[in-house]
Amino acid sequence: MVDDPKKIAVIGFGAMAQSLLASLRRSNSRLEIGAALLPTEFRNGTEDQHEITLLSSADELIAWKPSLVVECAGHQAVHTLVPAVLEAGVDVVVVSIGSLADPGLLERLEESARRGKSRMTVASGAVGGLDVLRSAKIAGLDDVSYTGSKPPGAWKGTPAEEAFDLGSLRENTVIFDGTAADAARLYPKNANVTAAIALAGIGFDETKVTLTADPASSSNIHRVQASGAFGRFSITLENRPLPDNPKTSWLAALSVEQSIVRHFQNIEL
Ligand SMILES: NC(=O)c1ccc[n+]([C@@H]2O[C@H](COP(=O)([O-])OP(=O)(O)OC[C@H]3O[C@@H](n4cnc5c(N)ncnc54)[C@H](O)[C@@H]3O)[C@@H](O)[C@H]2O)c1
Repeated sequence: MVDDPKKIAVIGFGAMAQSLLASLRRSNSRLEIGAALLPTEFRNGTEDQHEITLLSSADELIAWKPSLVVECAGHQAVHTLVPAVLEAGVDVVVVSIGSLADPGLLERLEESARRGKSRMTVASGAVGGLDVLRSAKIAGLDDVSYTGSKPPGAWKGTPAEEAFDLGSLRENTVIFDGTAADAARLYPKNANVTAAIALAGIGFDETKVTLTADPASSSNIHRVQASGAFGRFSITLENRPLPDNPKTSWLAALSVEQSIVRHFQNIEL
């Protein structure tokens, strides 16, 4: 396997990929994103300013011989591009974790990685406590629940907008209560967080999800709770957005950067 820290490629070149590129350059890291797979139909003409190699297909990406590929593009790319990359023996970090709720996709990726003798990892994203869930499930988890709270305006464009008059809510209001499987389907913007918890813990059907609209809050709050043979735990995160992009949580971008750093470390701490 090629292990050149300067031959990292991204799939997609939006907010997440550009934030990664800038952060690695700012920190004078030995790691560098050298290429982006962005088919011509997704380009907007601004990509050339970033001095990276633009690639148009999975074949071109594989021929560029990346040491690591970081998917920052969306569900469709995980379906159509990531399997070929894994099968070519290239390790992949998947950022669009929500896609892994799609029936059959995880099994297909597993098969591609097995054939290519490569590894796929997922970034932990905007939540924490996933290490606890992974360890605790070995002895058995009884209950895993996630509560996501956002200001009412953040739920515009979701099914909550039809069921509630978001602008006139006066108190913290439950807008969804169900499984992670249904939450991932009905609230795709929240899908990365719910999928990360479901995959680390007891799966999409058993993980309970509550989403609330809180007019008294100005930030996104994530609470993960679990109990099982190990005991119980609860973690609450109040994330700040990326300074230059309010739609992405800073912690999510940092978690992807951390996944890249770990990939190139000889010792994982
Ligand atoms: N795990 C997390 O916590 C977390 C956090 C933020 C974003 N994400 C996910 O990361 C992905 C990227 O987020 P973003 O904020 O950068 O989005 P964005 O819309 O800013 O950028 C997406 C980029 O991918 C490109 N693209 C779309 N479809 C593509 C395809 N099939 N092939 C190649 N390129 C394609 C777009 O043209 C764009 O350049 C999304 O799926 C988002 O859900 C995950």
